[in-house]
Amino acid sequence: MPLVTSTEMFKKAYDGGYAIGAFNVNNMEIVQAITEACREEKAPVILQVSKGARAYANHTYLVKLVEAAVIECPEIPIVLHLDHGPDFETCKSCIDGGFTSVMIDASSKPFAENIEITKRVVEYAHDHGVVVEAELGTLAGIEDEVVVAEGHASYTRPEEVEEFVSKTGCDSLAIAIGTSHGAYKFKPGTKPQLRFDVLEEVSKRLPGFPIVLHGSSSVPQEYVDMINAHGGKMPGAIGVPEDQLRHAAELSVCKINIDSDLRLAMTGTIRAFFDAHPDKFDPREYLKPARANIKELVRHKLVDVLGCAGKA
Ligand code: G3H
Ligand code: 13P
Ligand code: ZN
Repeated sequence: MPLVTSTEMFKKAYDGGYAIGAFNVNNMEIVQAITEACREEKAPVILQVSKGARAYANHTYLVKLVEAAVIECPEIPIVLHLDHGPDFETCKSCIDGGFTSVMIDASSKPFAENIEITKRVVEYAHDHGVVVEAELGTLAGIEDEVVVAEGHASYTRPEEVEEFVSKTGCDSLAIAIGTSHGAYKFKPGTKPQLRFDVLEEVSKRLPGFPIVLHGSSSVPQEYVDMINAHGGKMPGAIGVPEDQLRHAAELSVCKINIDSDLRLAMTGTIRAFFDAHPDKFDPREYLKPARANIKELVRHKLVDVLGCAGKA
């Protein structure tokens, strides 16, 4: 089947109490690893491309890689999504350039400005059959700890969501409930805990509406240890516990973003390979096990965390 939007996917996910995996793609091996796991597990999937990915790999290469995956995996629905679109122009370029979904991330702007920018993207996207994810609240991180301690300023304010969604017409909403981007999400020694009270209040105010979680890598200790054992230095890397992601997926969260976990699997595998084979220099030899490990990691997410295996 051709690329699809996330509309149908999210409706089924909401009703079925599971979430769709949104995995970031930057090169061929990552696209292959994700889509092969999804094909084998019969899972719908969102392949997302950041501004950084477009700068690294080039828009056309990424679109063509995803189109190749669509040909190779005709049985599963695939969405091509812009991750963290910074402005109208970037969103327009992706809408015009074959994406079926875009995120406009104006969450750092004041509320009224976020509405204004998001609304403009929604109007253009909907005119072209493309759906839009928007964001309210800024993701917390260890560096933001002071802000969070001072009255939860970083979390999404549930009292704003109805006005935001009705005024913008966005199709899904990313919220901040304690996740953050990257591999250092919580302070070592503290208990990672997402704000399910905020999620539940948002869901109450937006019944049936798909919610998105960014910063949802779990930072598998297996790969952190592998990196550290083979010359890397990532002390205190901690992610979101998978049981909390599973719980979010059972509620109104329909899209869960995972990028850092794939990077850790790739980096750990390649570091271990070079330690074991210092004489090797053929990229195919070290990218092959890296791709295989990303595939198994994605399979685990689909089956044990997201609950979307068998839902294609
Ligand atoms: O949320 C950000 C994603 O992990 C993409 O990261 O900007 O390094 O491509 P990137
Ligand atoms: P992680 O850094 O937790 O993988 O989050 C990725 C993400 O939110 C992409 O938008
Ligand atoms: Zn994100």
